[in-house]
Amino acid sequence: MIMPRRLLIEQGGAGHRGPALPACDVPQRPLAELLPGVVLRAELVFPQVSEPEVVRHFTELSTLNHHVDRGFYPLGSCTMKYNPKIDEELAGLAGFAKAHPLAGDDATQGCLRAMAEVQRLLAEITGFAAVTTQPAAGAHGEMTGLLMMRAYHRSRGEGERRRRVIVPDSAHGTNPASVSLVGYETVVIPSGPDATVDLDALAKALDDRTAAVMLTVPNTVGLFEPRVLEVTRMAHAAGAQCYMDGANLNALVGRVRPGDLGFDVMHINVHKTFSTPHGGGGPGAGPVAVAKHLEPFLPTPVAVLQQDGRVRLDWERPQSIGRVHSFNGNFSILLRALAYMLTLGPEGLAEVSRVAILNANYLMRRLAKSYDLPNPQACMHEFVLSGRGLKKYGVRTLDVAKRLLDFGVHAPTVYFPLIVEEALMIEPTETETFDRLDHFATAMERIAVEAAEDAELLHQAPHTTPVGRLDEARASREPRLRWSIP
Ligand SMILES: Cc1ncc(COP(=O)(O)O)c(C=O)c1O
Repeated sequence: MIMPRRLLIEQGGAGHRGPALPACDVPQRPLAELLPGVVLRAELVFPQVSEPEVVRHFTELSTLNHHVDRGFYPLGSCTMKYNPKIDEELAGLAGFAKAHPLAGDDATQGCLRAMAEVQRLLAEITGFAAVTTQPAAGAHGEMTGLLMMRAYHRSRGEGERRRRVIVPDSAHGTNPASVSLVGYETVVIPSGPDATVDLDALAKALDDRTAAVMLTVPNTVGLFEPRVLEVTRMAHAAGAQCYMDGANLNALVGRVRPGDLGFDVMHINVHKTFSTPHGGGGPGAGPVAVAKHLEPFLPTPVAVLQQDGRVRLDWERPQSIGRVHSFNGNFSILLRALAYMLTLGPEGLAEVSRVAILNANYLMRRLAKSYDLPNPQACMHEFVLSGRGLKKYGVRTLDVAKRLLDFGVHAPTVYFPLIVEEALMIEPTETETFDRLDHFATAMERIAVEAAEDAELLHQAPHTTPVGRLDEARASREPRLRWSIP
């Protein structure tokens, strides 16, 4: 039953008749007298809608949108995979969920040990010396990693000279954005004909002004950089640091450790590799792993596991870049990642990358018969098709994406990466069954046929969703964020 606010106040105040409460918790006067009048209701308010009606309302709302608990969501680069419900349960345990962020280290040893364990596991998985769990997203991790590199160059007296970061043209937009956030300049290098790093272009761009080379592995076209060891060697020879955008770690986990490839720092998007929620872009977590020489620059406080098994928050780090998030980051997201890592174990995590790669290659080979495939090499966890072959029917990639909704499938990422014309970036993930993959492939094949036979059907799509084709540019420029009854 929903309790009217006035009654709650009276029961919790001096009129309280339950077991005696500790004196310090009981105000001497009724709470209603202590609170300002404006926050008190003038009359008792009883619920106007019954519980079943409220539950039905929200259940109905949850079916109007497409989401990962409802259907396939092959959003390349964004990785929308199933969020195991056991992770939610563990993160919701009272000892974690009700811990107060201002409670001292002694009162929160369980939470601190969980955090230190996340750091330990991520360091082991990535092959780096230390990890910070403070950043709230992949992009925030990029900024944090770049700040640590900047502090490193400054500590060596090279801060003024090294201010350029080399980024391939296939990179995610957050890479150059993070570069400019830390006051550096982006130097874009074109990808080679096979969509991977062009070593000649890299050699030309590298000089004693280069602070870092920022590389996504596998890259945003879904390809492993075949010359990655050469890239990190060349960067170090020029005195630069190597940043790995680790958003695509789900293709490497359990197989390749970025620290062993010569990188100095990387961020990890836990929603992609460790299946934490990412709906709406967050709040999330983007832990950053660093090599030994960058450890002194980690954000404070650093959770340190002591000999006696206790974890201490260490603030005494004179070279630290300082705090990048309040308290210790989005702790409950990290708990979900911990639950995922512990549930799967080392073999299970290696299976994640194996199945993610297998699923992507199956779909890629099958769909290459109906769509252009600009890069025919074996892919990693995702691949990019081009819808340019449909342009002769007046059909664009966006039409394909919209029509997919009629088959109960969310659109792949479209028009990214920019180096592929009419890009359709597809990431099936490891959490999908073969039947789901087949359903998606069949829908894509049928849409390719429809494009040739009935382009108008695609222009008007979607036909089966609660709302049809929206003016997306207008929706993002003039958002209506309040519910209104017409
Ligand atoms: C390759 C790559 N880098 C960086 C990011 C940024 O991550 P976030 O969205 O967590 O800020 C993404 C996000 O999808 C990405 O795909």
